[in-house]
Amino acid sequence: MRIGLVGAGRIGAFHAATLAALAAVEQVVITDAAPDRAEMVAKDLGAEFAPDVDSLLAMGLDGFVIAAATSAHADLIGKGLAARIPIFCEKPLAVDLAGTQAVVQAVEAGAVPVHIGFQRRFDFGYRKAAAAVKNGELGYIHTIRANTGDVSPPPAEYIPTSGGFFRDCNVHDFDALRFVTGREVVSVYATGANRGEAFFGEYGDVDSAAALLTLDDNTFVLVNGTRYNGAGHDVRMEILGSKGSLAVGLDDHTALTSAEAEVTFPAGPAHGTFMERFHPAYVAELTAFTEVVAGTREVPCTVRDALEAFRIAEACEISRRENRPVNLDEVGR
Ligand SMILES: NC(=O)c1ccc[n+]([C@@H]2O[C@H](COP(=O)([O-])OP(=O)(O)OC[C@H]3O[C@@H](n4cnc5c(N)ncnc54)[C@H](O)[C@@H]3O)[C@@H](O)[C@H]2O)c1
Repeated sequence: MRIGLVGAGRIGAFHAATLAALAAVEQVVITDAAPDRAEMVAKDLGAEFAPDVDSLLAMGLDGFVIAAATSAHADLIGKGLAARIPIFCEKPLAVDLAGTQAVVQAVEAGAVPVHIGFQRRFDFGYRKAAAAVKNGELGYIHTIRANTGDVSPPPAEYIPTSGGFFRDCNVHDFDALRFVTGREVVSVYATGANRGEAFFGEYGDVDSAAALLTLDDNTFVLVNGTRYNGAGHDVRMEILGSKGSLAVGLDDHTALTSAEAEVTFPAGPAHGTFMERFHPAYVAELTAFTEVVAGTREVPCTVRDALEAFRIAEACEISRRENRPVNLDEVGR
């Protein structure tokens, strides 16, 4: 099949390489608002280049992958829907709630499949945790701890179009939480700080954040994240139940050092980037998209899933700014 990709930045170049290596994909065509960037990525992969999105969409695509900046997602999804081409779009759908809701409405009014890129749904550990919660082997779940730590921040120019820390970063934890537990968040209490480079604060954002979430069955969830995790890229989830516990992301590459005597675990090295940590998950996710394109698979992560994760992020953002607990009822569906 022939897949068009828009956005040749950090994740776009990575997705282009993953797509080009998939057996189901014969041709990848790449474009970007910065055409030089797209041309370079295409050249490196032996892929095709399109000068702009409209030319790309007119090239007889089977699938359309959106990996451009978040602020461009809604418009690009609209173009893909108009062209009736199955779409894969990176999270989040838009920078704000109204934009996210508008995308959900447009997608649900039509018949074009739209798959959203929450790759943790394809990670071995998160899948095992979801199965364990579902089959009851952990008993009832009382507490979950979830975290996302990047080693170093993205460039300053990424921040104003990112949607802010909860919508950009912890939104992965929120989606994974819904995926693993099958439950919904009812309230949040969140905080955040800017202790690294000042540009986060200048854009009204934070570089480290934490939230206490309560689920609809009274499970408590502690979520935290940072753009400055010096020990390595650290993404984990601990699920603690009345009969047992499971830890996602706890292996020899976990970015932690034990303070106990004679403990040599984890052996290292720690993961340095999300690409390293989730490479198999990204491959599985884009393979799933080719199956969606082929019509052999249902969309595994829908725009409604993206909206629900976004509502949790939105509630955390309101809570952080107003310094108060926020019920999810306050944040429109
Ligand atoms: N799932 C994940 O693990 C993951 C990881 C990183 C980023 N992301 C998401 O991927 C998206 C891109 O992030 P990134 O880190 O690659 O950003 P980036 O800034 O490195 O790249 C974004 C690219 O989009 C291009 N672009 C912007 N507007 C465009 C438009 N209207 N038309 C065409 N191209 C346009 C820019 O020129 C740039 O090359 C974001 O939405 C981000 O949230 C997801």
